[in-house]
Amino acid sequence: MPDTAPAPVPAPIPFVDIPGQVRRLRERLDERIRRVMDHGQFILGPEVRELEAALADYVGGGQVVTTGSGHDAILLALMAEGIGPGDAVFVPAFTFVSTAEAVASVGAAPIFVDIDERSFTMDPADLERRVAAVRRAGLYKPRAVMPVDIFGLPADYAAIGALAESEGMFMLSDAAQSFGATVGNRRVGRLAPATMTSFFPAKPLGAAGDGGALFTDDADRADTYRRLRMHGQDARGECLEIGMTGRLDTLQAAILLVKLEAFPDDLARREAAASAYDRALAGVVAVPHRPAGHTSAWALYTILSDRRSAIQAALAAEKIPSRVYYEQALHLHAAFKATSEGPGSLPVTERLGQRNLSLPMHSELDQATVERIAGIVRAAAG
Ligand SMILES: Cc1ncc(COP(=O)(O)O)c(C=O)c1O
Repeated sequence: MPDTAPAPVPAPIPFVDIPGQVRRLRERLDERIRRVMDHGQFILGPEVRELEAALADYVGGGQVVTTGSGHDAILLALMAEGIGPGDAVFVPAFTFVSTAEAVASVGAAPIFVDIDERSFTMDPADLERRVAAVRRAGLYKPRAVMPVDIFGLPADYAAIGALAESEGMFMLSDAAQSFGATVGNRRVGRLAPATMTSFFPAKPLGAAGDGGALFTDDADRADTYRRLRMHGQDARGECLEIGMTGRLDTLQAAILLVKLEAFPDDLARREAAASAYDRALAGVVAVPHRPAGHTSAWALYTILSDRRSAIQAALAAEKIPSRVYYEQALHLHAAFKATSEGPGSLPVTERLGQRNLSLPMHSELDQATVERIAGIVRAAAG
């Protein structure tokens, strides 16, 4: 028998801790789920309307239409503007597939725009150049721009909105990762004429399955969203235009009502974890940029380092997960070759894609765990 007790084995560190959050909210979740089982209105039940009102309240007004997923929300927003063949929609390539895929799905051309070195969001100066190039080429009509609030940080809506207006383009915000973030005193949902978010379980406000929502200040636009998510049918059931099945399930709405109550606290927990990472890592690796007046929802905490592989290997040796978002920028995916200008066409996107690494980030992450992870990063990056 050894005369000293074995060192305690640290608990596994999840990349995103959904079960931990569910444990904290379990009683209220069970009660809400039970109520839906009792009334049985599984499609567009009362919780859907209740959630839409609560979300509008949370963002400070406007209209909210919930959807089956974030991707459905983007599709519906594009369909509502009548965007289709012959139209160019400007998007970043440093994002999840869905952003450009939705544009291509309605028959429009996703035109890729480079990102800003520090914020990782769409670079307004590059947008201006790409719009001019599309006008010169004359193949597509510049119709819309869709910045993405990557990793939870709102894009530069002031600059992009001004350019969109002067170019006669509609601005849609892919806020799948940023629900809860702010610019000045305005919340995501009120930063663009149309905003789409996702309630994918790993998102800052996550359901127990797929879900999403559209935000707009325009009541007519919201009516169109509601009609399109129900096959384009009016109140009598006549199909007025081609739509889709794009509704949020009542059960997911019930779950999201509980999660939304806890959301301000969850966001504060994410911010505390991000600040602890910042303190421990600043000067060792590039920590996320915090533009003046912006807050992030911290969907992901992403650092930049030339020693990414060494950091990832050191974390993996301690069984700590880390991930590269995104391994391959969208302009390098086969599905987008029709409008991509290929390797070398988005230098900042491609450069950052070699150095970016996302560390565990979720509402259950405590300071001691952040410090443990950061210690390993520091040692490997030094
Ligand atoms: C930037 C971005 N856009 C769109 C989506 C699509 O959302 P969903 O998975 O809910 O369809 C996601 C997330 O998954 C995303 O991260």
